[in-house]
Amino acid sequence: MLHYYDPGSQSYEAGKSVLNPDFDFGTPARVSETLVSMSIDGREIAVPEGTSVLRAAALAGINIPKLCASDNLEPFGSCRLCAVEIEGRRGYPASCTTPVSEGMDVTTQTGKLAKLRRNIMELYISDHPLDCLTCPANGDCELQDVAGVVGLREVRYGFDGKNHLDAEIDDSNPYFSFDPSKCIVCSRCVRACEEVQGTFALTIEGRGFDSIVSASQNDPFMDSECVSCGACVQACPTSTLMEKSVIEAGQPTHSVITTCAYCGVGCSFKAEMKGEEVVRMVPYKGGEANHGHSCVKGRFAFGYATHKDRIKEPMIRESINDPWQVVSWDEALAFSARKLKGIQAEFGRESIGGITSSRCTNEETYLVQKLVRTAFGNNNTDTCARVCHSPTGYGLKTTLGESAGTQTFDSVMKADAIVVIGANPTDAHPVFGSLMRRRLRQGAKLVVIDPRQIDVIRTPHADEGLHLPLRPGTNVAMVNAMAHVVVTEGLEDKEFINSRCDTEAYNAWRTFIAEERNSPEAMEEVTGVPAAKVREAARIYAAAENGAIYYGLGVTEHSQGSTMVMGIANLALATGNIGREGGGVNPLRGQNNVQGSCDMGSFPHELPGYQHVSDPEVRERFKAVWGVEIDHEPGLRIPNMFDAAIAGTFKALYVQGEDIAQSDPNTHHVEAALKALDCLIVQDIFLNETAKFAHVLLPGSTFLEKNGTFTNAERRINRVRKVMEPIAGMEDWEVTVALSNALGYKMHYNHPSEIMDEIASLTPSFTGVNYDKLERLGSIQWPCNDEHPNGMPTMHTLDFPIGKGRFAVTEYLASEERASRRFPLLLTTGRILSQYNVGAQTRRTANSDWHEEDLLELHPSDAELRGVKEGDWLGISSRVGHTVLRAKLSTRMLPGVVFTTFHHPGSGANVITTDNSDWATNCPEYKVTAVQVEKVSQPSDWQRNFVDFDKRQQDFAKPAREHSGEAHVSALK
Ligand code: SF4
Ligand code: SF4
Ligand code: SF4
Ligand code: FES
Repeated sequence: MLHYYDPGSQSYEAGKSVLNPDFDFGTPARVSETLVSMSIDGREIAVPEGTSVLRAAALAGINIPKLCASDNLEPFGSCRLCAVEIEGRRGYPASCTTPVSEGMDVTTQTGKLAKLRRNIMELYISDHPLDCLTCPANGDCELQDVAGVVGLREVRYGFDGKNHLDAEIDDSNPYFSFDPSKCIVCSRCVRACEEVQGTFALTIEGRGFDSIVSASQNDPFMDSECVSCGACVQACPTSTLMEKSVIEAGQPTHSVITTCAYCGVGCSFKAEMKGEEVVRMVPYKGGEANHGHSCVKGRFAFGYATHKDRIKEPMIRESINDPWQVVSWDEALAFSARKLKGIQAEFGRESIGGITSSRCTNEETYLVQKLVRTAFGNNNTDTCARVCHSPTGYGLKTTLGESAGTQTFDSVMKADAIVVIGANPTDAHPVFGSLMRRRLRQGAKLVVIDPRQIDVIRTPHADEGLHLPLRPGTNVAMVNAMAHVVVTEGLEDKEFINSRCDTEAYNAWRTFIAEERNSPEAMEEVTGVPAAKVREAARIYAAAENGAIYYGLGVTEHSQGSTMVMGIANLALATGNIGREGGGVNPLRGQNNVQGSCDMGSFPHELPGYQHVSDPEVRERFKAVWGVEIDHEPGLRIPNMFDAAIAGTFKALYVQGEDIAQSDPNTHHVEAALKALDCLIVQDIFLNETAKFAHVLLPGSTFLEKNGTFTNAERRINRVRKVMEPIAGMEDWEVTVALSNALGYKMHYNHPSEIMDEIASLTPSFTGVNYDKLERLGSIQWPCNDEHPNGMPTMHTLDFPIGKGRFAVTEYLASEERASRRFPLLLTTGRILSQYNVGAQTRRTANSDWHEEDLLELHPSDAELRGVKEGDWLGISSRVGHTVLRAKLSTRMLPGVVFTTFHHPGSGANVITTDNSDWATNCPEYKVTAVQVEKVSQPSDWQRNFVDFDKRQQDFAKPAREHSGEAHVSALK
């Protein structure tokens, strides 16, 4: 007997499957310790209890025809093509909906079954256009395949009867079309939207012959609840739902597996290609972070890579008031080196620095900080994590001993209570948001701590989450109040605390947290949330078998960001929710490689692997490999660089793949700093806002044009694979190598795998990582070393890197930024699904169809007070600046709180954010700005200047963009 152990059943267990991810086994794997033995076409097989006959047959190598079944969806049993004969049973049961039973004897191929299947196919085809040769799905159509498999040769009913062939095509979605004439009403799309995506945008309307797939209330897709995730398109076995890119370009000819470059979920995709053209991005079922799901960004918004705005050649200029000159790579690098060396000679070694990119690969980030520490000879390196998750690093390292999230994403499937704090998973981490919603539909409880009502609170077919709409800036008061309930109501996990936590630190914390001033009742005035609700939330979390906390920038981007991260860790330690599946402390990292850029030593005080520059042993190890002395003093953080630039002591900056002019707070201050620099070198794919202040613009490469790795929010190192040659001829890592060589510090690598080998040799948590292993395992969650040769999905299972978990006293201190008579509203910011961060990529795709401009959301009562109507222009003033946005009335926030996104540079969202920052890490307090709002009729001064400056800079770059690329003559020699 073939004892078949179904590794697919482990997908939520170990996160690994040895099954071919490209093969469709028909129905999902079942998890069971009980094996059921049976026979299929004479083959003996044992599979986990609950497995369908269809899947068991596929596992035994027998493929039963199917149309309505797919192994990522629960079986539905509508097409009947998968009918089989079962000894002792009457009729022809559908194998997809029939579970195996002990001793079952199944036959899949008989004359009667063949006839039945042919008849079914005949009915389908009689109401289906026979345009296979010109159909865009030709060659990739399950209907076509099954017709061949069942041997359908003729259709006896003719094609003149009642049919759907004239049904109108819905082309409203920019990325896919819906052609109902080709629909076989298999319902796979409907189930994908429900089960995989969790949006429930589709239904089958009507009955029998009149059945038709309908988006929302029979709306065009674009007007429906559809969020364009693509799951239905993926599921459709015909060309009814079809990518427009395939309709235009034809079927792809080859594919390369790579990783999405948008958010910290790190979804794996198959880039399906025709030559060097990406025809479509298909979410890869073998991807451990996404299991074949995607969102509108990774799935469809890849067109920016070949957008006409791409910078294709290096450019230089002496002053930002000069037009750009196109030069060769050699000239641009020599110019940069000359400037940097000259500035250091005149103003000292510390007068220059670099900023690494969380958009770039680990290898590229590693090289930029290495360049700063070797060729520049200082530690003036920082990264955009400074402005997002630096408090995570500080707070988790202090309490748990490691600067990273503790779980896999799949761990959420074992959580009984989920607490989401200052994060919006369905918009900012959509694929994980869908997984979370799946768990909520299974009955997990939800608590959301956020000033704004986010979508996950009302998840279709799940209980409504408990929402604690706290005042911006009062997170620490809230987490302390919850911990107070845990401690004073006897909800602590004493066993965990006694065995796993430092007693002295615990006692100090316990005494503090039990004080009445931390009670929900005492904090009600501060947070604005009724004490009873806070008590209920604390009980839900503490009483759950497994309680998991997920948090985002709504936690970190505060003056008490690090305190709050420690407060969250305290709560998890006190309830013993650390060190096992279903629990943990999980920062939802923003950008694709923000975890990696922190791991790779981007911060001024830490070498790769969070090794402090002040440690002489660490410096010696790096010196042995890098061949230079490492400065023992931490360098400048980004805000310090800005201050020093304005003070005249910091003169040059190399920025790879970050748009600090748009993303950093207090734009006036940032612009003043950038203008004060003698040399700004920007390496980017577009002339972004920062590049408009630059003296050197080095063309960057997109994720499609390079090899390397990204590390996602679950510490998962995923391969990025080159699918096309870099548009400007160089991958980003090659540019950094060339710049270093031009500066006289020799670097040489043949391939990013060699850079990873160097990283592994210097970084204790990466010693076991190499490209061969990544090829073999698909992905690795660090730490990966002798102790954990294949990585470590769940952290802190037995102990903490610091031995015992350390509670920290988290005193609540009110933010300096408070509502006042002059600025009575509190502004908080966030992201929306279709755009990404500064929007440089998504704004250059059809994703802008969903979000053309940033709006100011305000409560109708605040609007009424000011006589504001939907769509009015609103002047928004804070103590540092003024901007103008259109009004959107919304009850998502309580009165007194307003909200905007920051995806469009002309919005000037950061003109009004202040440079208040986290006490420990300087992470800006983006989430709390006191503002006043009034109706206005014209843009702000800053916005008018922005338009003029932008036009001038675009004109300066025009000749360079139009340059043939042949002469490469430098006018500045
Ligand atoms: S649109 Fe596609 S997936 Fe949906 S019911 Fe029709 S054929 Fe099936
Ligand atoms: S694209 Fe996604 S959200 Fe839209 S209908 Fe299809 S599955 Fe549902
Ligand atoms: S969830 Fe994030 S990683 Fe996945 S496709 Fe969307 S943007 Fe890309
Ligand atoms: S595949 Fe089983 S009924 Fe359609």
